Formats: sequence, C-alpha cells, structure tokens
Amino acid sequence: MRVLGIETSCDETAVALVDNDQGALRVVTSLVSSQIDIHAKYGGIVPEVAARRHVDALFPLLEEAGIPHDGAGIDAIAVTAGPGLVPALRVGVEAAKALAWAWKKPLVGVNHLEGHLYSAWFSTPTPAFPSLALLVSGGHTELIFMKDHGRYELVGATRDDAAGEAFDKAGKLLGLPYPGGPKIDKLALDGDPSAIAFPRPMMESKDFDFSFSGLKTAVAVYVKQGGLGGQGLARVEDICASFQEAVVDVLVTKTIAAATRYRPASVLLSGGVAANETLRTRLGEAVAKALPGVTCHVPERAYATDNAAMIAAAGSFRATAKDFTDPLTLEADPNMRLAA
Ligand code: KG4
Ligand code: ZN
Repeated sequence: MRVLGIETSCDETAVALVDNDQGALRVVTSLVSSQIDIHAKYGGIVPEVAARRHVDALFPLLEEAGIPHDGAGIDAIAVTAGPGLVPALRVGVEAAKALAWAWKKPLVGVNHLEGHLYSAWFSTPTPAFPSLALLVSGGHTELIFMKDHGRYELVGATRDDAAGEAFDKAGKLLGLPYPGGPKIDKLALDGDPSAIAFPRPMMESKDFDFSFSGLKTAVAVYVKQGGLGGQGLARVEDICASFQEAVVDVLVTKTIAAATRYRPASVLLSGGVAANETLRTRLGEAVAKALPGVTCHVPERAYATDNAAMIAAAGSFRATAKDFTDPLTLEADPNMRLAA
C-alpha cells in the first residue's frame, strides 16, 4: 500500500509518500518546508502566519514530490487532523479532502502524536509490542503504552510545559534564537552538566507525570540574579548543559520507572526533542542497563522533528486495519486525543 502523507499542524509544511508492505515501511519521498525563519522574528509561532505559509507551500511541495496529478499509484491519503493550530491544520485537512474527492481515494485523519510514535518504524528492527513510548515534542510530553497498532494507553503526561517548550523558553531566557532546543543541544556539547544544580521536578514522584515550568523558572531566576550567590553567570555552554541535564535526568528516570512497572518488550523515543543528542544516548544506555532484553528505538533525526512520512506511516497502518474517518466528515480537531 502506498500512502500520501500531508502535515501542516504547526510550522512545517510537509508531504511524503510511504510504502507499507505488510508492516514493513519504506519512505519513497519526504519533503519538509520549514517556516522557522519567519516565526523566529516573533519569538514563537503565529498561527495565522503559519496557515498562510502552508497555503503557499503545500501545492508546490506536492509538485516537487512528483505526486501524479491524477493520484495514480496512491492507495490512501493520510493527513494530520489534530492536535495543533486550527488555522494551520485546516490547510492540510481541506487540501487532503479535495484530493481524496478528486482521486476517489480513502482519506485517513491521523493524530499528530500517533504520527510521532511511528517515526520509530522507519529503522529496523522495528519496535516489538507492547512498547513504551516517550513522546517529547514542542507541545507534548507523554509516556504512552502501545499495546498494538492503534491501541494506546496514556501512562503519564506533563502537568504544565512540554519538554520542547521548556527548551525553547530556556533558550529565550538565554537570548538564543527560536527554537531554543537545537541550539541548547549544540552549546551543551561544550558545557559542564554539573556546573549548576537545577531542580529535577517530580523526578521522584510515584506517578509517571512530568512538570517543567519550575525548571524554566529556576533558569529565569538564575539569569535574573546574575548567577548563584552573586558569583556571576556561568558560561552559556555550562548553563545549557546543566539545564539539559536536568531535563534528560527527569525524562530518563521516569521512562525507566514506567517501563519497570509496565514491562514492555521495547522502549521508543519520539517527538522533536528525540533529536537531542544527550537524550538519545542516555535513554539507550539506561534501557540497556536497567531493562535486560528490552530494546530501545530512537528515530533518525530527520523523522524525529515534524515530517509527513510519520503521518503517512501511521495512516498506512490505520488504512490497513480499515480504521479511519469518513472523508467528507473529517474536520481539524485542535484538541484531538490519542488515548485516555
Ligand atoms: O515534534 P516537533 O518538531 O513539533 C511539535 O510537534 O511540537 O518538536 C519541536 C520541538 C521544539 O520545542 C524544539 O525546540 C525541540 O522539539 N527540539 C529539540 C531538538 N530539536 C528539536 N529539543 C532539544 N534538542 C534538540 N536537538
Ligand atoms: Zn510534532
């Protein structure tokens, strides 16, 4: 089955073609057109600006991907239906509906978070079920127990800021351009992670929830007070490394604790923050040490941040299971939930 994927939930316009051959995935094309340069000027994403850019970018991107004008060879169209920014989501959903109608092909509305989970299916071996997923993006931080394709249980979630949001807010406090996550990752490589003892919120709590707003406040206070005890600010590399260490400690500790309780066959990392070098390494090491026999799956960086291949992948499994929405009733749903 060949699936066209379309993603416009946030600040990347993306188009992809993915083949699903009895569960084995192959990315035929995956194109991403980023709007980060525009939003960086505002220090964050402006929904109406994002939507206008999606309108301009989507059809040229479909052309560039070589999508046949009559839809020949495409078996289904998968599009991100939520969660995300409504004006942005609508561009992809309406375009996908129009193509599905014109080509008379099935339309599959995909949850963006489900898409992120499937970014781990582009590498082999693929995660075995049940799998415990740590999903860390700009808008979400969740632990999800994947029992099978399409069967998810929410194990824990952030009570305030998402991990990516914490990276971006800390970046802003340190005067780094938006988005702060990739910049902190890079600067931290030359920093000392033990330079500043930032808090590890909820790391020892008995549940599997997260909280990052206190950590962001700790960075704000540190910067405002000019360092600890009037000693002046540490090097920006040391602040980045220390902040990142706190986030990674919490994410890894909670994931291992949840895996110890839920006993999955595999652990997988997904979402934009899965591009983080330290998190990728530390989670792999922790799983190998604490969970013998459990495999750890980390997506290629290109598929960790927003893309349409992951949407096509998730859509291909839903289309195979014939578990999808009626094309003409599909609407963008900004609060779409993956699991209760
Ligand atoms: O999944 P994603 O591309 O979009 C959402 O669905 O939110 O995630 C974007 C988030 C941003 O907060 C960005 O700063 C963060 O992922 N991010 C990173 C890295 N690359 C992207 N955070 C830390 N280290 C990175 N290398
Ligand atoms: Zn995302």
